[in-house]
Amino acid sequence: MVLKSQLASAGALLLSLPLAAQAQEAPDADARAEKTLAQMTDAEKRVLLYSRMLGFIAPAKRPADITLGAGYVEGIPRLGVPPLVETDASLGVSNLMNLRKGDVATALPSGLALASTWNPAILRDGGRMIGSEARAKGFNVMLVGGVNLVRDPRAGRNFEYLGEDPLLAGTLVGAQIEGVQSNNIIATIKHFALNDQETGRSSASVNMSEAAMRESDLLAFQIGIETGKPGSVMCAYNRVNGQYSCENRFLLTDVLRRDWGFKGYVMSDWGAVHSTESILAGLDQQSGEQLDKKRYFTTELDKALAEGRIGQPVVDTAARRILRTIYAHRLDADPSAGKAPIDYDANGKVAERAADEGMVLLRNEGELLPLARSAKTILLVGGHGDIGVLSGGGSSQVAPVGGFRKIEKAGSGIAATFARRGYGGLAPLDALRAEFPGARIDYLDGSDPAAAAAAASSADIAVVIAEKYATEAEDQKDLGLGDGQDELIAAVGAANKRTVVVLQTGNPVTMPWRDKVGAIIAAWYPGQRGAASLAGILSGRINPSGRLPVTFPADAAQLPNPVLPGSTLPPPSKEDKATYGIQTDAPPFDLEYPEGSDAGYRWFDARGHTPLYAFGYGLSYSRFTYDRLKVSGGKTLRVSFRVTNAGARAGADVPQVYVRIAGKAKRLVGWDKPVLAPGQSKSVTIMADPRLLADFDAAAQRWIVPAGDVSVEIARSATDPVLTGTARLARSEIKP
Ligand code: GLC
Repeated sequence: MVLKSQLASAGALLLSLPLAAQAQEAPDADARAEKTLAQMTDAEKRVLLYSRMLGFIAPAKRPADITLGAGYVEGIPRLGVPPLVETDASLGVSNLMNLRKGDVATALPSGLALASTWNPAILRDGGRMIGSEARAKGFNVMLVGGVNLVRDPRAGRNFEYLGEDPLLAGTLVGAQIEGVQSNNIIATIKHFALNDQETGRSSASVNMSEAAMRESDLLAFQIGIETGKPGSVMCAYNRVNGQYSCENRFLLTDVLRRDWGFKGYVMSDWGAVHSTESILAGLDQQSGEQLDKKRYFTTELDKALAEGRIGQPVVDTAARRILRTIYAHRLDADPSAGKAPIDYDANGKVAERAADEGMVLLRNEGELLPLARSAKTILLVGGHGDIGVLSGGGSSQVAPVGGFRKIEKAGSGIAATFARRGYGGLAPLDALRAEFPGARIDYLDGSDPAAAAAAASSADIAVVIAEKYATEAEDQKDLGLGDGQDELIAAVGAANKRTVVVLQTGNPVTMPWRDKVGAIIAAWYPGQRGAASLAGILSGRINPSGRLPVTFPADAAQLPNPVLPGSTLPPPSKEDKATYGIQTDAPPFDLEYPEGSDAGYRWFDARGHTPLYAFGYGLSYSRFTYDRLKVSGGKTLRVSFRVTNAGARAGADVPQVYVRIAGKAKRLVGWDKPVLAPGQSKSVTIMADPRLLADFDAAAQRWIVPAGDVSVEIARSATDPVLTGTARLARSEIKP
């Protein structure tokens, strides 16, 4: 259990309601589900077991006044059971392919930006905001909570997720889910499990030992489920050790229900069901049934029931779980108010606060930043900075308030069927002009590096926005920025050493020009008002406090898989597509992760690799010192220390606590994010979750904390320890 004290300390910026004030589950959910189930006909029970994509259904045949979105489950009006109206996703109410013509929503910054805040309160406030917009638009299920670990920095959906560490990602996703569900709607956590790359997402089998997956990807889900209590888990496309996630009894019954006590329901991903027998493994609802080869949970289920291959009690169990979740989150008592007014201004400020804390200052030579207010001429180059900011493609893409100013088809293969490259939200050029009213700010699109260099040579400051698009259903070929941007940056940096590079990317990237520029900011996909955050960091109105939730490799050779698994395979055959479904983009293959549970910085630590930028790294305009370290061991680990703002301005720091157990890679066991005035100090206490000190013993089915000494680091990043200590742990065992 992640201790409340740790959660509270991790989310020290009390920007949101205390945990107790969040909407908890209605206490009578189980009894009500039982009562309703007893009144339902068998046919009515089966109605709950599948969703359809209304956008695929002729308007005349669609139910009236239901908001078009990702999926729709009929209700049972005679018993007051509401329909389930589902929308994507973690970054706001998405509107893939403009399904709801012209509909917009507030766009949060990307998942990696949210994770860079290391602040659960930001995730909770963001979740509460996007959940309120979902409800206002008529949705009561929000397909959020993407928490797959970033194992390969080239994976296409990393921008949606919350980084490479299970404690950080699990803690943050739990807060996001809590925020979404505080609107009395159901949130998911997804994609369960090990869907950590796009290549082969439908045809690959991710093969990993139980111990390794329990200590990494599954631990992120476990922490997220414990702290966020999602109503639903979405099982993933890929196979795990040879068996599809959505028919994997080990995952859906042994781990999720027997070990973790999950009481909600499991929905499939869209096009991820391959049998009716999936229901026997623990799948409760086939999602977007039109994408699957068969109507497994309707016509095929009727056959299986008639032939006795599946018994009615199995259907009752699935229906009961869905009913219980509807009642637990008050969907019937507090029906989603369709078409309610939305305060987009107020919601834009929530997105802006997230971007304020989510941008990471990576380099600031000679304290180039913050820019002197006296800067008279600023040149802005590239990144479509004159029209808006970039967002990632796929099901999580939000059409921002104000709409896309530019949108075009993007991606290749499967992604080309739905991916869009879009720019919208507050434009960086407008934000800079508002922030520096006394300066002349010119813009060049960056297509002519020589012209950009010439213009930069006569400007006080040059700001280059470099961008790299990422999308669901397609991984990235390499870690480079591409499109001649490295050359552009090198040319501008050579022309003016006062050059700032702003990385608008969905992933870590390489930076061959790093030593040729003065400052670098990882802005990720900044969201609705992230350009104001960028301008604020450049001017110093905002003191950057972001820390990397992912490792930036120096090059791909440092990675566990230097070549992205499956990326060299030929296209899938017709038989492959027939076997593995319409989302198949590669022949079947075994996907191995050599790092096992040592994803990200743990791999770099185990191998002694020096990254370009480390997990947990980020600069501030303040300076923070740590002292008074006390460490005590025994059954678990208690670490206390003091943080002091030794700088001249208020700011937030993110001191991190890492533990190294003999012979193993270091692990993050806690952090805090104190906001301190100059000279102010705060004492921090972290109690480590014992599972983070343990290895999982699959034979014994126990977490085992070994007896012995552990070293403890209070650090600025995974590679920058400041204080060190040791403690002696007693051996202990924890059930899964
Ligand atoms: C997708 C995604 C999932 C999304 C679902 C509905 O393919 O994998 O994250 O929620 O379909 O759009």
